Amino acid sequence: MEFSIKNGNPEKQRVDCVVVGLFEGGKLSDAAKSLDIASNKAISAVLKNGDMEGKLGATLVLHGAVGASAARVMLLGLGKQAEFSERHYRHAVHAAVKALPKGVASASFFLAELAIKKADIHTKVAQLVEVAMDAAYQVNAIKLKKSEPKTLNKIAIFVNQSENAQAEAGVKHGLAISLGVSLAKDLGNLPPNICTPTYLGEQAKKLAKTYGFKVEVLEKKEIEKLGMGSFLGVAQGSVEPPRLIVLQHLKGKKDQKPVALVGKGITFDTGGISLKPGGDMDEMKYDMCGAASVLGTFKAIGELGLAINAVGIIPTCENMPDAGAIKPGDILTSMSGQTIEILNTDAEGRLILCDALTYAERFEPSAVVDIATLTGACVIALGHHPSGLFSNKDALAHELLAAGEIAHDRAWHMPMWEEFQSQLDSNFADMANIGGRAGGSITAACFLSRYAKKFDWAHLDIAGTAWKSGKEKGGTGRPVPLLTTFLVKRAQKN
Ligand code: BES
Ligand code: MN
Ligand code: ZN
Repeated sequence: MEFSIKNGNPEKQRVDCVVVGLFEGGKLSDAAKSLDIASNKAISAVLKNGDMEGKLGATLVLHGAVGASAARVMLLGLGKQAEFSERHYRHAVHAAVKALPKGVASASFFLAELAIKKADIHTKVAQLVEVAMDAAYQVNAIKLKKSEPKTLNKIAIFVNQSENAQAEAGVKHGLAISLGVSLAKDLGNLPPNICTPTYLGEQAKKLAKTYGFKVEVLEKKEIEKLGMGSFLGVAQGSVEPPRLIVLQHLKGKKDQKPVALVGKGITFDTGGISLKPGGDMDEMKYDMCGAASVLGTFKAIGELGLAINAVGIIPTCENMPDAGAIKPGDILTSMSGQTIEILNTDAEGRLILCDALTYAERFEPSAVVDIATLTGACVIALGHHPSGLFSNKDALAHELLAAGEIAHDRAWHMPMWEEFQSQLDSNFADMANIGGRAGGSITAACFLSRYAKKFDWAHLDIAGTAWKSGKEKGGTGRPVPLLTTFLVKRAQKN
């Protein structure tokens, strides 16, 4: 998709569709007014006839409107003007892109002109780009007959001439995040027989080549040398060899300590010997979405050339049942030296992450954020809108919460009090790998916290937000917007 910033009148655009907004009660935006006048009140007539009320997200496409140079005019409902917010704006843009007729290849959006509290033109343009890209995203389905390629490929965003520079910067920002989100979606959506640990390693190398990252993809022998007994324990049940991917984007000052992002990369989670029930098990291909969000965020900061030092660490393997797989009762020794009694092989995410966290120590990071589809319990606690946020440092938690608000990719701060820790007690090892059903997402975070004592650390449980189920099954690309925004804000502070 190509985005451009333009100035001009809606009636003069020779494109397939011009999109203008109107509020509930028939209040026209400036662009809609301009079109109405040029078209001899064609829009007023539609309102009078009752075909359009301006409800948020409602759309009506007019063909051959007299006085307009475009083939079509889309009227887009914006809801109540007094309530119009960034969230409503995003909802409307999403609805507009989804409702564009099939034949539309080029569209001109007159929406960034709308007044939204606290949103400047940079924000409005960036969000338009992000939402449009999200709405226009198509799965690369593997089908005998390729589905027709969607034709929408050019979006012009209209602003006042004085705003051009800020708007252009908004496009760049929005596009960078969108490309990261798309990559994360693509990786998540791939079938698990293609998106293996080896494949993820190759994708990381490709990214590194494109953006000049430093990259290492460690194989089993090297992972053994590091002493990652916990990670290797999970990997040992699969014929797919594990990988430890390490990416470095070094565009900050030489002495600046890096931010480390650690992503769970289970390319398929059967549960192992503690086998999951069969229903919806296909969705466990999304158990690498933490890893995908790290790669997506690296793509975004690579696109932006962001002045920051960042390290991406991805432990990736499959969790399979096998004669050689770990079993309940086994004890593993992690890279940190702490031992772990396996009580449930389905609690495997924390087992690969704990060693990756220990590995992160060598970078002396200013902060470590891990991202993982870690627990079903998080979905029960928070549903599908916020990601769960846990941290050993309140200031870091608040930075991430704020980034999530700005990016419309929100997280919710969960408790991680000392009291929960004893649920991990084991008679046979330093800790058990599960803490019972009560507060399952919290005890999972408590487990990780034992490997994050040497740095400021936060954990994002994205089990409820990384993908959608049902008819709209697909990766969401979350939390790439949150993570990218977090890094952008950090870069501004440094
Ligand atoms: N990948 C799953 C978590 C998950 C389950 C995410 C369903 C999204 C939807 C994770 O590895 C897992 O199986 N967790 C267990 C932990 C339990 C055994 C303590 C869970 O949540 O049931
Ligand atoms: Mn599991
Ligand atoms: Zn898992």
